[in-house]
Amino acid sequence: MTTEAILNRSFVLTREQIPPTIVEEIGSEERKELVLKIKQQLQQQNAVIVAHYYTDPDLQILADETGGYVSDSLDMARFGHESDAQTLVVCGVRFMGETAKILNPEKRVLMPDLEANCSLDLGCPEDEFSAFCDAHPDHVVVVYANTSAAVKARANWMVTSGSAVDVIKHLAKQGKKIIWAPDKYLGDYVQKESGANMLIWQGACVVHEEFKGKELEALRQHHPGAKVLVHPESPASVIAQADMVGSTTGIIKAVTELDAKEFIVATDKGIFHKMQQVAPDKILIEAPTAGKGATCISCAHCPWMAMNNLRKLVHVLESGENEIFVDLDIVERAKVSIQRLLDFTKDNSKIGLANDA
Ligand code: 13P
Ligand code: SF4
Repeated sequence: MTTEAILNRSFVLTREQIPPTIVEEIGSEERKELVLKIKQQLQQQNAVIVAHYYTDPDLQILADETGGYVSDSLDMARFGHESDAQTLVVCGVRFMGETAKILNPEKRVLMPDLEANCSLDLGCPEDEFSAFCDAHPDHVVVVYANTSAAVKARANWMVTSGSAVDVIKHLAKQGKKIIWAPDKYLGDYVQKESGANMLIWQGACVVHEEFKGKELEALRQHHPGAKVLVHPESPASVIAQADMVGSTTGIIKAVTELDAKEFIVATDKGIFHKMQQVAPDKILIEAPTAGKGATCISCAHCPWMAMNNLRKLVHVLESGENEIFVDLDIVERAKVSIQRLLDFTKDNSKIGLANDA
């Protein structure tokens, strides 16, 4: 495929490729039993839960109560790396489990559901992506965390939503030309912020892509004092109205720091649990996902994140099923691009990193 063909092709999933978002109801008695079983298993197996902010509040509460961790994708990777636990139970989506395994090949990594994927990962097949990179050997390859281990192995850098702008600015300062994949909206945003020379893959997050600029404008009229918090996987028309654009951690921080009573939030609504916990007196409003005459597909809740729940967590801990394996050769190569980011974010002076990509 030519460069033009790749850049003109959409890697966004069709409606049929997106599973329905199903949140299983669990009654309070069953919840108590499941929680007890999980706590016992975690202790017996020296295991911890590492959960994303978009997962079910039951899982987030349990992770917090049992010495696990709830965070964004960057900090989930850091925590798994630093924890002493022998088993990491990653509640999130597949690339998060793979990243944990790549950074901790000696540990066992389990996930409640191996079908929990991500539209960005699915929209960036390794063979096509590699061919695209091969056609541009003079470009530094930067991929978002939401990609397969094989795509990370083909990259020079992995970045997350919380680090993308800084990394790309760092590379742009060195005059590097960049291949960016897979999220087109985040890519466009980063390009605008950094002025970098970028070839941008045309993938999208099916959840954030649904936020609507026009309807957001109308909602803001009804809430003139509200601040708008936006994840950068959202369309430019939504980002343009943001008071703050950032990672999930950035959004949670903003609700405590910005001087407003009401917040309109453009990201997966799973995050409301933590936001409400850190700022109980603030009013949180979902950004609109349905335009005129159109209905939302995922309605601001990721269908793959919703696949994680207490029942499945008990099952994987008791059965040992759903272990994540990554080929050793891929682990070695993907680790380089991930470690580059971990070093960059640890050492903001970037000393020793110049021109190493
Ligand atoms: P964060 O790294 O900001 O948590 O984002 C992960 C993600 O999947 C957003 O859709
Ligand atoms: Fe992927 Fe979007 Fe789900 Fe995040 S919310 S995991 S980017 S599909």
